[in-house]
Amino acid sequence: MRTFVITGGTQGIGKALALHYLGRGDRVLAIGTSQVRGETLLAEADRLSAGDRCSFLPADLSSLTMTARLADRLRTQYPSIDALVLGAFRFQTKRQETAEGIERTFALYVLSRYLLAEELRTALERAPHPVIVNLCGTGSKAGRLYWNDLQLRRRYRPLMATMQGARANDLLGVAFAAEHPDSPIRYVLHNPLFVDTGLAEPFSQPTRTALNIITRLFAAPVDKAIEPIVDLMDTPPESALSAFQVRRTIDVTGPAFDLTAAHRLTRTLRNLIIKSVEPKAKD
Ligand SMILES: NC(=O)c1ccc[n+]([C@@H]2O[C@H](COP(=O)([O-])OP(=O)(O)OC[C@H]3O[C@@H](n4cnc5c(N)ncnc54)[C@H](OP(=O)(O)O)[C@@H]3O)[C@@H](O)[C@H]2O)c1
Repeated sequence: MRTFVITGGTQGIGKALALHYLGRGDRVLAIGTSQVRGETLLAEADRLSAGDRCSFLPADLSSLTMTARLADRLRTQYPSIDALVLGAFRFQTKRQETAEGIERTFALYVLSRYLLAEELRTALERAPHPVIVNLCGTGSKAGRLYWNDLQLRRRYRPLMATMQGARANDLLGVAFAAEHPDSPIRYVLHNPLFVDTGLAEPFSQPTRTALNIITRLFAAPVDKAIEPIVDLMDTPPESALSAFQVRRTIDVTGPAFDLTAAHRLTRTLRNLIIKSVEPKAKD
């Protein structure tokens, strides 16, 4: 039985992956913030006779402290992890800071993904064919890193924060492969493009209804969207880092995958983690 950690495993693509692997006899550890969604997943797992192989671990991954605590719990309870799916995301229509003083999109979409991959690396390396699947916006040319204002204090636009996060996730993949050259972990960046999930949820009316209609008309159904992801998880690519838009391979030597920028990002993240968490931990 394989063990899959799926952040955002309570809704959308993450949940569809969770139910797929539960149906195949694997163990799924799903992470999200909503107790109701967690319990719904557990009830659906029960209906698949997989209740004993499904756990809901509530954690707000925009908190560095909670992310680190979750990783600690996972490492202790599951010494070997076959796959980590990084799927937790929430579109922030307004700029918000977490209790640790970090802009929320950056905290959830970038920092927590970096931290979880690093903290679970050893457990992943004990599995026979370990893989990290980062569900993100790879392959798009939009967005850039605002190096002098990564938390967008001076000027925040929701899409700007999301696209900066997408570019940062490309670099997280580059850095992971470069900083752990002997690791057997395959790091896969996957952009599922437009999928019918909870996209409209953060918006107020009438935008929410309009988005729901557009989604229903044009987005891929979630069961279809997970097919290429399942293929990548079942047979991870040969190379340490790979990137895909649905099934189309993205060149990971392009400008979005600059190694110097990748090291610069992880250095910045490590400093941010030290500054944000350690002083509070000493209190
Ligand atoms: N759908 C698309 O069209 C599309 C396109 C490109 C890329 N993607 C990427 O694919 C991934 C999945 O997208 P999706 O549309 O399937 O997502 P979704 O349906 O909106 O679900 C988001 C998931 O993230 C969890 N989550 C949100 N905030 C969290 C937090 N602070 N801590 C922990 N968990 C949190 C949610 O759980 P709770 O509600 O329980 O917190 C939920 O399970 C995302 O990374 C997204 O960027 C999606």
